[in-house]
Amino acid sequence: MFEIEFERPEHQAAIDALLDLSFGPGRYAKTAQRLREGNRAIPELCYVAFANDVTGDGKVERRMVGSLSFWPVVIGGVPGLMLGPLAVEPRLRGQGCGVKLMQRGLSDAEALGYRLVILVGDAPYYAKVGFAPVPPGRLTMPGPVDPARLLYRELEPGAFAAAHGPITKPAPEMREAPAQRTRAI
Ligand SMILES: CC(C)(COP(=O)(O)OP(=O)(O)OC[C@H]1O[C@@H](n2cnc3c(N)ncnc32)[C@H](O)[C@@H]1OP(=O)(O)O)[C@@H](O)C(=O)NCCC(=O)NCCS
Repeated sequence: MFEIEFERPEHQAAIDALLDLSFGPGRYAKTAQRLREGNRAIPELCYVAFANDVTGDGKVERRMVGSLSFWPVVIGGVPGLMLGPLAVEPRLRGQGCGVKLMQRGLSDAEALGYRLVILVGDAPYYAKVGFAPVPPGRLTMPGPVDPARLLYRELEPGAFAAAHGPITKPAPEMREAPAQRTRAI
């Protein structure tokens, strides 16, 4: 029922409306946002989901109903990704859209050569796609975060072992996907 597509510029207004609806104006104050400011989501890992949805006048239309992006970060010394924001249109929640978006993104990220992903979110939900809590004190975010909500997922077995310390934005030359870097840095 949900079709996943790559995000394109014409989706931006609908994505912003969905994120405002899902997170409210406080979304820009979250600690995770500090890793997005001055950073750039990976274009190959930005998705929208389309599905049939009922509009205000009762008609059924194919509409954008979900979005997900991934951002390059350095995770305690290990180049990786931050997942999110993830949002699904409230009327269509609980039907698998969020999990489908994440499964697609994680699979593509692995194919692009990424090894490790972090996010800030509800552990029981993200456990559905393999995320687990970061052991307390192991990694730090650039601001306050409930430690129980800082989660990680390996895309390459063992990648988390080397991750210790602050989670930071990457240098600009490290923002491309590993498989796409044309020169060693
Ligand atoms: C969180 C969100 C993206 C989930 O999207 P979704 O399409 O409804 O999720 P799915 O349909 O793939 O998964 C639904 C399942 O996850 C569970 N679930 C959803 N949110 C959950 C949460 N916060 N904690 C635990 N379980 C949760 C549902 O109970 C359901 O379980 P079931 O499959 O056993 O019935 C959506 O609710 C949303 O947009 N919320 C507002 C924005 C938000 O909070 N984003 C995440 C930021 S951390």
